[in-house]
Amino acid sequence: MPKLYQIPAFADRPLEATPNTIGTQGEFSQGAIEVAQRTFSIVKPDAVRKGFAGAILAEIDRAGFQIVAIKKQSISKQQAKGFYAVHAGKPFFDGLTAFMSSGPLVLMVLEKENAIADLRKLMGATNPASAEEGTLRKRFAGSMTENAIHGSDGEDTAAFEIGYWFAGYELI
Ligand code: CDP
Ligand code: MG
Repeated sequence: MPKLYQIPAFADRPLEATPNTIGTQGEFSQGAIEVAQRTFSIVKPDAVRKGFAGAILAEIDRAGFQIVAIKKQSISKQQAKGFYAVHAGKPFFDGLTAFMSSGPLVLMVLEKENAIADLRKLMGATNPASAEEGTLRKRFAGSMTENAIHGSDGEDTAAFEIGYWFAGYELI
C-alpha cells in the first residue's frame, strides 16, 4: 500500500515526501494524496571508475524507478563517515569510508512504489560473491567493500540518507 502524504497548500508536489517528513503518518487533512515511496542510492566509486554508471542507471530505469534527483561528485572522508555513522567502530569502517571518498560517485533519489525493497532486490546481497544472478552487485561489483551500489535499507534510513545529500528544494 502506498503511503499517504499531505500536500502543502503552496506546492503541487508532496513536500512531505522529502526527508524531514517521509514516512510520517498522523492526521490526514484535505488534500492528502498517495505518492510512491522514495529511496536513496549511490553508484559507488568502483562502478564509476570502471565505466558502469550508465549501465547501472539503465537497469534502474528499466526496473521502473523515477530519478527524482541525481548528482555526480566526490565526497570527503568526513562526509563518508557521517553517512555511514551507523557502521562506526566496525572493522570495515575505515576501509569503507576511504573507498567511498576515493573518487567520484553518483548520488540519487529514486521513486517508485515499493522503492526501498525493490532497489535492494535489484542490488543483490552485500557480498557480490553471494549475490543472486542478474543482480547489479553480481554483475558489476568486485568485492564486499567495492560493491558498486548503495540502497537505503528502510524508511528511516532512506529519510536520513536523502536529507544528508540533498536539500529539500532539489527534491520537488
Ligand atoms: O550496503 P548494504 O546495506 O548491503 O551493507 P551494509 O551491511 O549496510 O554495509 C555497508 C557497506 O559497507 C557495504 O555495502 C560494503 O560496501 C561495506 N562492508 C564492508 O566493506 N565489509 C563488510 N563486512 C560489510 C560491509
Ligand atoms: Mg546498509
